[in-house]
Amino acid sequence: MVYTPAALIPEDFDPLQGLAELAATSITTGPPLPDADAIGLFVFVGGPVPGETGFDWAALQGLGFAGKPGETLVVPQAKGATHVFVGMGDAAEVTTARVRDAAAALVRATAKWNQLSLISGAIGLDASAVGQALAEGALLANYRYTALKSDSKHVPLTALSVEVDDADQGDIEAGIVAGTVTARATVVARDLMNTPAAYLTATALGLAAERLGDEYGFEVEVFDKAALIELGTGAILGVNRGSAEEPRLIKLHYTPAADLPAVAGHLGFVGKGIIYDSGGISLKPSTPMHALMKMDMGGAAAVLGAFTGFRDSAVPVEVSGWLSVTDNLPSGSALTLGDVLTVRGGTTVEVKNTDAEGRLVMADAIVLANEDEVDAIIDIATLTGAAMAALGTSTAAVIGNDQRMVDLAIAAADATDEPLWQLPLERKYRPQLDSEIADISNMGGPYAGATIAALFLDHFVDGTPWAHLDIAGTMNAEKDDSWRTTGATGFGARLLLEAAANFTKE
Ligand code: BES
Ligand code: MN
Ligand code: MN
Repeated sequence: MVYTPAALIPEDFDPLQGLAELAATSITTGPPLPDADAIGLFVFVGGPVPGETGFDWAALQGLGFAGKPGETLVVPQAKGATHVFVGMGDAAEVTTARVRDAAAALVRATAKWNQLSLISGAIGLDASAVGQALAEGALLANYRYTALKSDSKHVPLTALSVEVDDADQGDIEAGIVAGTVTARATVVARDLMNTPAAYLTATALGLAAERLGDEYGFEVEVFDKAALIELGTGAILGVNRGSAEEPRLIKLHYTPAADLPAVAGHLGFVGKGIIYDSGGISLKPSTPMHALMKMDMGGAAAVLGAFTGFRDSAVPVEVSGWLSVTDNLPSGSALTLGDVLTVRGGTTVEVKNTDAEGRLVMADAIVLANEDEVDAIIDIATLTGAAMAALGTSTAAVIGNDQRMVDLAIAAADATDEPLWQLPLERKYRPQLDSEIADISNMGGPYAGATIAALFLDHFVDGTPWAHLDIAGTMNAEKDDSWRTTGATGFGARLLLEAAANFTKE
């Protein structure tokens, strides 16, 4: 019998277990649930504090509660549900991000319970935005990756009720529905990123995409190795050379429903889908960062997550997605330094470092997006350690050839609290990518690594309006932080969904 890594993995292993847990959580409006374990109470600095708690602002202060954003004070009751005061900061400074954080803080403070209620009080923001932020904060803070634990201690949230003003109830409920869709996009991305490489091969990711397409209303076309040879995607095939697993190119397509007031335009998303990045022959050191490289398909995961939300968010434009999926491994057949690959369309690339594989596989996908004549491209990739060095783990880099597309991405990032910071597409550095023997090389000098990688992609984008998101720094959370649960963040899934909802051609 020939052993393969898959041999001991259950055939019915589900890489998307978070979806079932999400579907089992019900968020409703109304008075506190009769058997709620805890009741959350949002409190701004200076109050008001609901009278039935027996506390006023001075009493809370006396207990050391300052009402800071995300601060919680847990007060067990002699009888009935525990009260949890949740700080909201100054009322004048409230934002939807604060509401999302407050819902997450409540869920984290009550992690051992599964039935929660919330009395939010007046917040002073658009009610549907509040409902959406509440659902996102609660559902994303409740997320855990438990698929491979024999005995998980996680207590999934099953019910959350939210007491609101009668006048706001309809809007809050619509917001909760919207927030469940957007949270789902992030959960899909997190699950796919957290799943180890042997459990989520390129082949398995193709199957997962097909399943998600059936369920959430988009078309999926999967190109296997033979089809990629046919297509001439020499960069994906080159990076795949060292692997025992086949590569995949996954094409996604969403068309707005006929009864939607459609907006003219066709947006293209391109995602980096490196199942595992060892660096290839340019092998990475065995640092903790290397162990995170199962998440090097975070760009592809974010695109796929966003697609699960288009139909249910009534996104009015046509969107296509291209995911380049393979692992990057060393072996006797692996890509070598100095080799030259031919990207689809004919551009030759000298490989000066096999660890700069992301830009290679993205090139084939960008060429395909241009062949479909999309009006604009947003690509997303865990592309460079340099983006991480520059901006850290909270903010991702955005670089583009078109300020309107960069601004669309930044506006979406502001709405979803997935922060972006623009770095320049400094064309003065472009000669660093010149090659003596091929059209372009995949390595530049030692500085401005995120910009150099973007300049490589820019060569293939070829003038199409474009924004590039480098999410290397933000793909992983080292510890629980508000709605970001330890592990894969799913960064970008909600951002891309929001950007698609707001995209216009001109
Ligand atoms: N996947 C990595 C980038 C990365 C680094 C993601 C840290 C997440 C955390 C990428 O493929 C890579 O190896 N980039 C190299 C490029 C270099 C060889 C030009 C890098 O950034 O060091
Ligand atoms: Mn690499
Ligand atoms: Mn990589």
